[in-house]
Amino acid sequence: MKITSAEFVMSNSDVAKCPNEPLPEYAFIGRSNVGKSSLINMLVGRKSLAKTSGRPGKTQLINHFKINQNWFLVDLPGYGYARVSKKEKKVFQKYITEYFEKRKQLVCSFVLVDIRHEPQPIDMEFMEWLGVNGVSFAIIFTKADKLKPGAIRNYVDTYIQQLLETAWEEAPPYFVTSSANRTGKDELLDYIDSINKA
Ligand code: GTP
Ligand code: MG
Repeated sequence: MKITSAEFVMSNSDVAKCPNEPLPEYAFIGRSNVGKSSLINMLVGRKSLAKTSGRPGKTQLINHFKINQNWFLVDLPGYGYARVSKKEKKVFQKYITEYFEKRKQLVCSFVLVDIRHEPQPIDMEFMEWLGVNGVSFAIIFTKADKLKPGAIRNYVDTYIQQLLETAWEEAPPYFVTSSANRTGKDELLDYIDSINKA
């Protein structure tokens, strides 16, 4: 799929105030600093449509970006470590949870995992929580430019194996990406396109 238009629509902290158009949407979630906002920019081919930072905790609201006039990408705050106060973090957590529980337009969420880090309990727990709440998701392994191809394969195999040995009977769909060199762009956009057309 080709991206012909991408526009920022709104940011807010209230799920009830998100755009009320009945268009499918895809949300990016994962630990702070994993590369959610960078990946959105890479997918749409824009340097700073979504705001990014080396400092964890940059994205603090639910951000809707309208793509090709007929679907949305949603950038969310990260969970886990973020350089913000405990009180602020609690507020994010509340509306992230509400977003996943209440947002009818959400058709698939992408859980981003930094390919350099050991599998993290917080990601595993979040995926389990999505499963319990009936939210379909795919995993995106980010920052693939940081590893050699053999190491990427090992990491992904081990990660999926661990999912199968713990919570899951079937592996979720997964993608390997790098926003630095655009790895995974076509695969991810084709995946979204296939869901949009289903
Ligand atoms: P929060 O909004 O704080 O939750 O973070 P985020 O998940 O949106 O991460 P963001 O996109 O802001 O990126 C965090 C840092 O990782 C920035 O310094 C990015 O330049 C860097 N980064 C993101 N994607 C990649 C990637 O594919 N490769 C490399 N090498 N660095 C990346
Ligand atoms: Mg962000």
